[in-house]
Formats: sequence, C-alpha cells, structure tokens
Amino acid sequence: MKNILVTGGCGFIGSNFIRYLFSETDFNGRVVNIDKLTYAGNPENLAGIKEAFPNRYFFNKTDICNLSELTGLFETFEIDAICHFAAESHVDRSITNPGDFIHSNIEGTFCLLELARQNKNKLELFHHVSTDEVFGSLGKSGYFTETTPYNPSSPYSASKASSDHLIRAYSVTYGVPATISNCSNNYGPYQFPEKLIPLMILNAIEDKALPVYGEGINIRDWLYVEDHCKAIWAIMQHGRRGETYNIGGGCEKRNIDIVNIICELVDKLIPDTNTAPKKNLITFVKDRPGHDLRYAMDFSKLKNELNWTPAETFESGIEKTIKWYIENTNWISRVKSGEYKQWMKQQYEDRK
Ligand code: NAD
Ligand code: TYD
Repeated sequence: MKNILVTGGCGFIGSNFIRYLFSETDFNGRVVNIDKLTYAGNPENLAGIKEAFPNRYFFNKTDICNLSELTGLFETFEIDAICHFAAESHVDRSITNPGDFIHSNIEGTFCLLELARQNKNKLELFHHVSTDEVFGSLGKSGYFTETTPYNPSSPYSASKASSDHLIRAYSVTYGVPATISNCSNNYGPYQFPEKLIPLMILNAIEDKALPVYGEGINIRDWLYVEDHCKAIWAIMQHGRRGETYNIGGGCEKRNIDIVNIICELVDKLIPDTNTAPKKNLITFVKDRPGHDLRYAMDFSKLKNELNWTPAETFESGIEKTIKWYIENTNWISRVKSGEYKQWMKQQYEDRK
C-alpha cells in the first residue's frame, strides 16, 4: 500500500490513526484524508502533520457521497487502499436525527464502494471500520463473535450494519478486496465531548452535572484508541481479504463504574478545587430509548491470526486520557462551538 485514502480522518479515531501511521509504523507512502468536517470533524486533531509530512499528507474537504470529487482524488493520488472511518457516530444524535446517518453511513459507504468497484484493479484493499453495536445487545453472559447474527437497535447501529452488508456484498459480487473490523467502545485523546468518557471528564473538570442514563448499569467493553489503530493497521497489512475481525478491549465496565473512576482520578489530578469529591456531581437522568444493555467482544480470531491484543490497561489509558483533556483546554474550547452548546442544552431539556 503506497497511497491510502482515509475517510473521516479529522474525527476521533481517524485522526489518531493518521497520527499512528506517520509516527509509529514503517508506512512510507501518502495519506489523502477526505472529511466533510461535520461538527465532529476538526482539522486541529491533525495539527502539525502537514508541516511534518508536506509531501505525504493531503487534506480535502469533501462529502464521501461526492463520487466525482472522489474519482478525481483517486486518480490524482494513484490511490491503492481505502481506510473508511467517515460516519455519523453518536447514538443519541441518531435517535433525534436519523437522516444524517442514512446519508453518511449508508449512501456514503455505497458511494465509496462504487469508486472501489470502478477501480477494482488498482485497489489493494478497502478496509471498513465498523462497530460492535451491529450485533445488538447481549444479556448478562456471552460474547459477540464474527458469526453472531446482526441485530442492531438504534438508527446508528442499523446504518453501520447496512454499511457492513454493502461491503460484504461488493466483496462477494464484484470482487472488491475488502476487510471489515467491528470494534468495541473507544476512548482517548481527540474524542468529541458528546460521548460518555470525554463528556464526563470535561463536566467533572468544569464542576457540571454528570448525567448517567437510567441506573448506570449498562456495560460497554472499553478499548484505548491507539490499540484500535494498531489492530486496523495489522488487519490492513496481514488480514485475509473478504474477512471480518472483531476488536475488543477485554475490559467490560458498567457506566456508573466508569464515571466513579473518572471522578476519583479528576479529584486526584486536580486536588485544589472547591467542589471535590466530584462524585457529588453524578445525576441519574432519563434512560436512552432502546438502550443496549451490554456489549462484549470475543476477539480471539484477531489474536490467533494476527497476534493482536490490547497493550493499554484501562487504568493506564484512562489516566493518560484525563491528563490529555486537562492539558488541552484550547482544543476543548474550540470544539465546544455554538452547535455543541445547543446540542447539550437540548439533551438536558429532553432528559429532565
Ligand atoms: P467521529 O464522529 O469522531 O468522526 C467521524 C468523522 O467523519 C468526522 O471527522 C466527520 O466530519 C466525518 N464525516 C461524517 N460524515 C461524513 C461524510 N458524509 N463525508 C465525509 N466525512 C464525514 O467518529 P469516530 O468515533 O472517530 O468513529 C470513526 C469510525 O469508527 C466510525 O465509522 C464509527 O462507526 C467507528 N467506530 C467508532 C467507535 C467509537 O467508540 N468511537 C467504536 C467502533 C467503531
Ligand atoms: P456513548 O459514549 O454514547 O457510546 P455508545 O452509545 O456508542 O456505547 O455511551 C456509552 C454508554 O454511556 C452508553 O451506555 C450510554 C451511556 N451514557 C450516559 O450514561 N450518559 C451520557 O451522557 C452519555 C453520552 C452516555
């Protein structure tokens, strides 16, 4: 792979992936990052990359549904691989605004697949980044494997499930060389503060209420974002074409336990505040409709075939993450635009 088209590279995982590719791997080709720059996309997530790699990093503000623009970029940069992150990614927004998810996650993936189909002979790989949420909810026991039937509950997970099906169909029908990864919940630097972990960190730092949905007993399997990036790169290099790989953290935690850990660490890292303990800020609010109870990944296929396991423990990863948010107040004030404030205000009204 010499010239990789990365979609959604200005978002949370995409920007971490591009940073990882340039700083931690022996990849010496070009990255062309296309991103529509929705509220979740922020070019500052890649600050310094263009300066450090002027001939190897390129950015183009484009919607992935714009096939003619994509075709031009594909030819200009002699693209031979696609790594597809671009998506609307927040379950709560998919409940209030499902249309955006159909557009970006389903039509967008379709459009990229058409590009791949038209250029099949020039393409080494189309890697599609997906989620464990396509499998629906687990009960108290068991794990999702690569053969678990799809059973999505939210417009977000349904749109990601559709995109996975399209990838598989183009691989089988047209021979597009594709791989899919389904990963559990990520956390780490550059995550937009609408998702559980960054929202709780920022609200704790700012002495704002910590809104826990329902009773806080829902379980997610947490993975540090750089471990996800390592897994994607391992699959892109050595994964078998046409295959799906589950990626997980082996780290199941209830939401309330996550919030308590964050409170304790913020108390420890910012000891001189007037309002410690931060646990006093925890507020139980109305539950999310269709809230999946539990996700947990069996990632033994990835471990056995590609020798991947998570390197970061939750304890080390969450402390690093909290320190990053404490040290990056400029980034935080910039992502918290008017749109963010409006969304948070609406969330508060809806959950009262
Ligand atoms: P994010 O919301 O932080 O970033 C998404 C990026 O895609 C943004 O930069 C946005 O501007 C861009 N984008 C959205 N629609 C676009 C369009 N139509 N055209 C071009 N660009 C567009 O999301 P993330 O958390 O970084 O997730 C990246 C991918 O990983 C998604 O496909 C998501 O489903 C998947 N995933 C996320 C997690 C997680 O915990 N965050 C876990 C598993 C899988
Ligand atoms: P989230 O970060 O939105 O990821 P996902 O829904 O994709 O798993 O939410 C993680 C869990 O945290 C989920 O069970 C919902 C819960 N949650 C809260 O309790 N409060 C919040 O403010 C948010 C954003 C999420």
